[in-house]
Amino acid sequence: MQRLLILETTCDETAAAVVTDELEVLASVVASQDELHKKYGGVVPEIASRAHVERILPVIDETLRRASIKPTDLDAVAVANTPGLAGSLVVGVAAAKALCLALDIPLIAVNHLQAHIYACRLAAGRDVFPCLGLIVSGGHSSLYHCRTPLEFDLLGGTIDDAAGEAFDKVASLLGLPFPGGPALDRAAQQGNPKAFDLPRPLLDDPSRLDFSFSGLKTALRYRLCKPGENMPAQPLAPELVSDLAASFTAAVIDCLWGKTALALRKTGLKTLCVGGGVAANSALRARLQVERERAGIELFIPPMRLCTDNAVMGAIAVERLKAGLFESLDLDAFPGLLRPASQKESHQQTQ
Ligand code: KG4
Ligand code: ZN
Repeated sequence: MQRLLILETTCDETAAAVVTDELEVLASVVASQDELHKKYGGVVPEIASRAHVERILPVIDETLRRASIKPTDLDAVAVANTPGLAGSLVVGVAAAKALCLALDIPLIAVNHLQAHIYACRLAAGRDVFPCLGLIVSGGHSSLYHCRTPLEFDLLGGTIDDAAGEAFDKVASLLGLPFPGGPALDRAAQQGNPKAFDLPRPLLDDPSRLDFSFSGLKTALRYRLCKPGENMPAQPLAPELVSDLAASFTAAVIDCLWGKTALALRKTGLKTLCVGGGVAANSALRARLQVERERAGIELFIPPMRLCTDNAVMGAIAVERLKAGLFESLDLDAFPGLLRPASQKESHQQTQ
């Protein structure tokens, strides 16, 4: 049996996990930074980076302790090196490289978005490939043709804000607390999704598998703010907040499902895997279950704890371990999304 230590520091969670080559999770630790970013109403990259520096070693120690193993019991270290915040990514990458150097064990690169899809594989307990992958996170909203755990082809993505980013910005406009996504989800559960007629950008264009969410936020702002102002002058009544939250959520979900259905038709794929923080959204989960039945597809959505950022999903590294796809110790962090070309031809991650 081989044991992998997996590190995840792409945004504002410092996370580590120990997973075996049989995908058994021996330990998982996630140190959230929500408290640090709360007063700014969003993730501050510099604060995130510094917090990762302070937390990465205690998080690794705690993970190994919970797994009841020593560093010398590890067979490889994997780290998410793309995409994410530059100052956050480099902390995980540096820690992983230092461990590999000290222990003389292989280094494995993890693509954070692919890992979000792999969370479905872990939750299913069986193979889910080939599948259509819908990733809805704070930084990305993308559709992938996931041929194998090592071959992901980008089909489309957002041309402006990511779904999670839109949830967070609208939550702030509505005066809801940080982190915005879960707060907006709760508010929407009390509201009427038909109360406001909001746009569904790009939904009627069958030639594109892309999303656009920034106009939705602007449409809401026009309804709530005076011209030239960014925030409503008065706090909004709770019923109004709930109706706006529910109407906004319904618009986002219509766009997400519309393009997902189009991608399923275009690719002929019969399996859908959904990953990323927004996959925790209760209305999206409910809608996908309804559509699954109608469309006659197989649907995988991870449990909540595997939707938001965690290191366990980085177990996609086991697939690279088995294929012998290791990195040299000059592995870099790539903040931007890697080009759609799958990583099958080369294990060297280039931009
Ligand atoms: O995947 P993730 O943890 O981090 C990134 O890779 O970005 O996603 C975080 C995003 C945030 O924008 C957060 O507001 C959103 O996921 N989110 C939600 C919910 N839970 C988290 N959005 C809508 N409803 C939720 N229940
Ligand atoms: Zn993520």
